[in-house]
Amino acid sequence: MTLGNSKNDAKWVSEFLSSRRTTRDFLPDPVPQDILNQILTDALTAPSWSNTRPFKVAIASGEVRNRISAEFLSRWSAVSKHLRGGIWGKIKLLITRYGLPTSNRLISKPYPKDLKPSAMRLGAGLYATFGVAREDRVQRDKWWAKNYEFYGAPTELFIYIHKSLHIYAASDAGLMMENLALSAHAHGLGTCMQGAVGIWDDVVRKEFEVPGGYRLLCGIAIGYPSESPVNAFKANRIDVSELVIKAK
Ligand SMILES: Cc1cc2nc3c(=O)[nH]c(=O)nc-3n(C[C@H](O)[C@H](O)[C@H](O)COP(=O)(O)O)c2cc1C
Repeated sequence: MTLGNSKNDAKWVSEFLSSRRTTRDFLPDPVPQDILNQILTDALTAPSWSNTRPFKVAIASGEVRNRISAEFLSRWSAVSKHLRGGIWGKIKLLITRYGLPTSNRLISKPYPKDLKPSAMRLGAGLYATFGVAREDRVQRDKWWAKNYEFYGAPTELFIYIHKSLHIYAASDAGLMMENLALSAHAHGLGTCMQGAVGIWDDVVRKEFEVPGGYRLLCGIAIGYPSESPVNAFKANRIDVSELVIKAK
């Protein structure tokens, strides 16, 4: 049987794709190794520039996961405390440097004007779901810290990309990551892609033999979703009309 040719397949695929949502609260149950292997195999069916597959994945679970999470939480706690401490807090942070990004520093820059409304809408929706008031910086920081607990996921995947292919390495990794997320979804698992964990590459490198020429792109939390209402949050999806560039 040839897959993907019938109208029924197409409808099913559309429904399946739209049913994938980011998971932000996981059960502690481990991901069975054979299922994880299948998901990674599925991830590798994505297209790739000259078939180079310019990416690698570091799989953190058990004690390694816990050590990385503990160091991330400690750094985030130092940063958030200092940033809330006014000018003196910021000066202290610059002196101690503990918690400042060691990789992907650019992600802490403000969003450009045209992208800001979408990001603000997501933030507002998420904080409303979490029950956190926008102006409550302490609670917001606490929720952000959940990124560094990988939202409770038993496994965190750290995605590394080859430096030489620049944006095309990130593009290839993105294609692979989406296949991975969809395969996980098909196995009843949830995922959360995490740019938040891309800023302290040195912590991950301490635990893994990352080959030369690779840099950290982001993480993916993977595990079984809990029943938390947080997982019922549905981020806005833009219309095709907003995607398509108008002809002159
Ligand atoms: C590269 C990338 C990085 C992301 N980083 C984070 C993150 O650090 N924390 C988080 O909670 N969600 C993160 N997300 C999830 C997005 O917020 C989410 O995909 C978006 O709001 C759309 O929602 P959906 O995945 O449920 O459709 C990231 C997504 C991508 C693709």
